[in-house]
Amino acid sequence: MSNLNAIPRVVISHSPTVLETMPNLSSILNRNLYVKRDDCTGLAGGGNKTRKLEYLVAAALATNADTLLTIGGIQSNHARQTAAAAAKFGLSCELVLEDVKGTPKIDYHQNGNILLDKVLGAKIHCVSDDVNSNEYALELVKRLKQEGRKPYLIPVGGSSEIGSLGYVQCAQEIVSQIKQQALVLDHIVLATGSAGTQAGLLAGLILAGIDIPVMGICVSRPAAEQVALVTVLLEKTLILLGLDKKLAKGKVFANGDYYGEGYGIPTNETIEAITLSAQHEGVILDPVYTGKGMAGLIDLCRQGVFHEDSNILFIHTGGSQGLFAYQEIFNHS
Ligand SMILES: Cc1ncc(COP(=O)(O)O)c(C=O)c1O
Repeated sequence: MSNLNAIPRVVISHSPTVLETMPNLSSILNRNLYVKRDDCTGLAGGGNKTRKLEYLVAAALATNADTLLTIGGIQSNHARQTAAAAAKFGLSCELVLEDVKGTPKIDYHQNGNILLDKVLGAKIHCVSDDVNSNEYALELVKRLKQEGRKPYLIPVGGSSEIGSLGYVQCAQEIVSQIKQQALVLDHIVLATGSAGTQAGLLAGLILAGIDIPVMGICVSRPAAEQVALVTVLLEKTLILLGLDKKLAKGKVFANGDYYGEGYGIPTNETIEAITLSAQHEGVILDPVYTGKGMAGLIDLCRQGVFHEDSNILFIHTGGSQGLFAYQEIFNHS
């Protein structure tokens, strides 16, 4: 028993999302690859943040908020989905979007997610990469309150213990889908950034009493720092669920080998992963998160870390809208 069903949630996502095979990539890599299509959660293009927002919007509505305020990079998928959730629930949306060093010169500031943020009616505050966007957001909260507004601040990536509950829910879906498909998974792989997706998924698997190793491929920081971040959030999520935080011990794995030069800067392996998935499965990944996640999965297969014939589930967390900000990396042919 856990507290999950007692915690307020609004239903936004198209779920359960499909869990399907990737037959062509499976034969290229000599492993059995499956994909959980969380890129198809339905909210303004979908993605993993929609699940987190189901709990975050419910928490915001419980405080009578009239505005959702959040923080991210200029091409934040989380910001896009927050803007869409705000629109759906009749709330205003304020986005603090930070510039990211080393990202493309053309389109990054105008196309992809930021274009959709504008279409969705969000008010955008662009800040340079030397400004502390968390502090900026706290100041903005103060200013909005002085104007009589009721803002609800959602942390970067929606990664609080409340947001992580969206992935506890997703873990429950996966558990029931693999039972239905009589599938025994050896590994789950996903891109890990602000940590809520990995922490929530792990909490959900722990809650279900199922031990499948979850490999987070780092996209925001080196592995040791990522493990620490995910562990803290996993412990908080377990506590929120009414479980013992000690259950987090030994569960968090992160691999920093595919991170490259930094957040938002795709590597050659990222581009290869995007191309392979698109051209063999018709599945579109993104240059910031899922392209790196899939690059990690492919390499861990090629290195033999994931053994031949093992069953591997990739969580497709979305993000393809960001591709339109990165056209220059695909314009060679
Ligand atoms: C497409 C996509 N995949 C993965 C992630 C990483 O999820 P998390 O921040 O919960 O670690 C994000 C976060 O923004 C994302 O937008």
